Amino acid sequence: LHVVHMTAEMAPIAKVGGLGDVVTGLARACLTRGHNVEVMLPFYESLPEDQIDGLQHDRDFDCPKGRVWDGRMQSGSLRTSVFRGKIDGIPVLLLRPDWGSCNIFRGGRIYGGSYNELEAYLYFSRACLEYLKISGRQPEVIHAHEWQLSAVPMLYWDVYHASGLSRPRVMLTIHNMDNSGECRQDEFAYTGMPGEAFATVDKALDERTIGHNPERLCLMKGGIIYSNAVTTVSPTYAREALEGGAAGWLRSTLAKPDVAGKFKGLLNGIDTALWDPATDPLIPAPFTPERLEGKALCKRYLQQGLGLDVTPDKPIVACITRLVPQKGIHLIRHAVYRTAELGGQFLLLGSGHADGDFRSMAAHDFSDSPDVRLMVMYSEELAHLMYAAADMVLVPSLFEPCGLTQLVAMRYGAVPIVRSTGGLADTVTDVDSDSEVGNGYSFGGMDNASLNTALDRAMQTFREDRQRWTELSRQNMRIDWSWDKSARSYVDIYNHLASY
Ligand code: GLC
Repeated sequence: LHVVHMTAEMAPIAKVGGLGDVVTGLARACLTRGHNVEVMLPFYESLPEDQIDGLQHDRDFDCPKGRVWDGRMQSGSLRTSVFRGKIDGIPVLLLRPDWGSCNIFRGGRIYGGSYNELEAYLYFSRACLEYLKISGRQPEVIHAHEWQLSAVPMLYWDVYHASGLSRPRVMLTIHNMDNSGECRQDEFAYTGMPGEAFATVDKALDERTIGHNPERLCLMKGGIIYSNAVTTVSPTYAREALEGGAAGWLRSTLAKPDVAGKFKGLLNGIDTALWDPATDPLIPAPFTPERLEGKALCKRYLQQGLGLDVTPDKPIVACITRLVPQKGIHLIRHAVYRTAELGGQFLLLGSGHADGDFRSMAAHDFSDSPDVRLMVMYSEELAHLMYAAADMVLVPSLFEPCGLTQLVAMRYGAVPIVRSTGGLADTVTDVDSDSEVGNGYSFGGMDNASLNTALDRAMQTFREDRQRWTELSRQNMRIDWSWDKSARSYVDIYNHLASY
């Protein structure tokens, strides 16, 4: 099979959240199975070129791009350069617009920064399809990700299919329905196609792509309608989208019979080569389920390095997260105090909206604490160390399409404490509800008292039954969260799409 991913993120060098990890993990798993996989990614100015192997110029082309001026559509084009290379062994195609004439993808950040995100990704969606067409590629499947690339299935019919190259089917994976990508009709013109094509031509189409705000288009909705297959990243999140509030107003779109039939939740995996405590170069001592001494050394090392009380007897509760509302910020805040109160150690690593809150909390309440460190920053290195040192990893998300940290935690012998939602519910079973498969602690409510019911039990078991705790940690390390299983489900869908 030949599959082309189109995405805004790709780990390790263009990553903001889990999306980047998933694209890399899935692409690698499919490559390993002998498929031909390419990833199309914006050539952000912030990409470290020395981490792209064999980087070379492929070609330049003029990408159609428009705008609405004074109520009228103006059509133009944007010179675009394509580069080829490999990121972590995976073939990539990097697209960069002419920076002499626009600032799209310029600046030190992956998202936003100096450019208009909506304009950037609408342009990028069109540019990806144009490039495929010009290079004569006919992959079996185009795999678009998230709202940023949701215009691809919408544009596909006019841009690619119309050119006579009819081979690929289009698939969309939704990693998070929180942002569905709403845009004004006139903004859609950045794709070079008038927004009216999707909004006002006839009443039937109207209902198909119109946004929550009826003045706008919803890219994700359009992507869902026009794709041949739609997936999201866990079975429970898919169910919550259809039966609960996870999809918001998109629920009715997903529930339409012709959509429900092509919509599925597939659980993410993790990169078990990158996340492997037996070989991880970023931790001071390796460890395995059979030899856990290394984990104790990692804990000691981190406690020392951070100036905490150095002791095996205080459980380390780690929280490694983006500090955005989705992640349950008020519950994280509460857990810091609760953990300290119960005699544990709390480590936070993360950044986002709530940086100020946590910085002032660190300065006012925990400035010389031997038990609490709130590190408001992003660091891959520190994340590895924290997973290795932690006894527990807290993920109290209000909603969570899949969540990867609980999986990494288990791989590193830490016990997850999670709010039971989305992918967290699919991957963590409470030890007190099922002693066979139980692998962590979970709670249901969104209030502090609910969190306590899980955190307190975990702390108690750690303190009173260390043998049981070590067994749990060992058992968690042996669970297979690799991409292998999930990749098989994706390949089944690819094959199904390629077969008609
Ligand atoms: C998003 C979701 C997260 C998921 C990740 C990868 O970041 O919020 O739950 O694990 O995408 O699919």
